[in-house]
Amino acid sequence: MVKMTLGIVIAVGNQKGGVGKTTNTVHIAAALGLRGYQCLIIDLDPAAGATRHLGVPENSFAGALELLTTDEMLGGLVIEEGMPAGVHLIPSRPQLSELDSLLSKFVDKTRILDRALAMGRSQYDFIFLDTPPTAAATTTVAAYAASEWFLLSAFPHPLSLGGLTEAFNDIADVRNHRNPELEILGVVFTNVDGRARRLRYELDELVNRVLPGRRFRTSISQAIIIPTLSGKGRTLFQCAKHDQVPVAQQYRRLATEVEYRVLNRDKFLEGQLQPFEFDSAYPPIVTADELVVVQ
Ligand SMILES: Nc1ncnc2c1ncn2[C@@H]1O[C@H](COP(=O)(O)OP(=O)(O)OP(=O)(O)O)[C@@H](O)[C@H]1O
Ligand SMILES: [Mg+2]
Repeated sequence: MVKMTLGIVIAVGNQKGGVGKTTNTVHIAAALGLRGYQCLIIDLDPAAGATRHLGVPENSFAGALELLTTDEMLGGLVIEEGMPAGVHLIPSRPQLSELDSLLSKFVDKTRILDRALAMGRSQYDFIFLDTPPTAAATTTVAAYAASEWFLLSAFPHPLSLGGLTEAFNDIADVRNHRNPELEILGVVFTNVDGRARRLRYELDELVNRVLPGRRFRTSISQAIIIPTLSGKGRTLFQCAKHDQVPVAQQYRRLATEVEYRVLNRDKFLEGQLQPFEFDSAYPPIVTADELVVVQ
């Protein structure tokens, strides 16, 4: 029997650096993996944040560069070992910054992900594209051009008010000039300090005004465990007792919101989707105990 996959492609972006793109990518993918979905992360950043966050030593594997510049098949490049349950990775490395010099000048650089995504859509439910913090980078443009969903990641900071507006304008530009199919799946605030209420309010107002209904109900709190684990090449979900860690619970909620929106795409885009109720629907399909991977 042929297994059907959802084949949904989500670009995780924001032209600003250090706003949680990579952290959100790996944790939402890992949380969806816990729900039984097959997820692929393609690390499109030469800084290789997702690759390192998932514990893969930089420069040790071929990956995104080969995927974009050779005929290598997806299956020959994905890393499965040591990944969170249900997650595969196409790693990156610093040489990805030489991508432009390796592409023929006759190639349409906005379409360089098409081949990989055609393979990926038939094998994975969710494909996450972790992008570098430069809107003009070749991989960023290609990711925005080839995705149907855009997940905007933001840290609440006084400066992010301007950054958010810039990000909204970028997405509008992509829709106008390159990919009218690109839809904003949601704006997620992460690294949230519970004390900065006034700022949160202003940011919420901005999102509600420009993108009504698109902010995720779940925000991710500031939690020192995240950078600590990232330094060790691990996600929250690869730790024992992660089910007792509040920020891990937040990521599981956020992932269910992602799932709910993509599975109800038409209603969501029409603004007709009821707010997600966390308690009753979508129970975890695998218990945490079965998943603890402690190395
Ligand atoms: N909820 C959180 N609490 C505390 N620290 C966090 C949280 N989320 C992310 N961080 C830390 O903030 C830093 C930036 O996050 P991350 O690397 O995910 O951002 P990014 O947007 O991918 O950055 P870049 O643009 O450089 O790729 C990292 O050190 C990460 O560990
Ligand atoms: Mg990053």
